[in-house]
Amino acid sequence: MREINVGPASAFADPGRKLIESEGLEVGIFKLGGEFFAYENVCPHIGGPACQGKIIAKVEEDVAEDRTSQGFVFSKTKINVVCPWHGFEFDIRTGRHHGNPRYRLKPIKVRVEDGQVIVSLPDEKKPQNTTVQPTPDGNASRPVF
Ligand code: FES
Repeated sequence: MREINVGPASAFADPGRKLIESEGLEVGIFKLGGEFFAYENVCPHIGGPACQGKIIAKVEEDVAEDRTSQGFVFSKTKINVVCPWHGFEFDIRTGRHHGNPRYRLKPIKVRVEDGQVIVSLPDEKKPQNTTVQPTPDGNASRPVF
């Protein structure tokens, strides 16, 4: 296990993120609601740089008491990161895709110690079995934090 100090917690925007690379392992470290979350920067779809995508509010359906749809709204509490390759959205707090929880970003241990953000990286980077696809440019029309 390697530990890396990625800097002061106060240097992160909230919501916000930093990306680091160490010995071939890329990690996205996110701050959300004062908490920190970290994941390998590898999308479980086909290996895109999921942690580098836009940070946006989850879209939720507003359902009235009579069970009719009132349309869609942006969540006030659930924030996603959007993989820039094909748009899969992952909950920053869990790393899971909302529609299919089998798709999950691989978590990395992260903690704050004496005001510094420390990530614990595995000793060995396992090779990824992924296919490289062209990167479409995904401009979001939703709020971007
Ligand atoms: S590689 Fe991330 S959505 Fe396809």
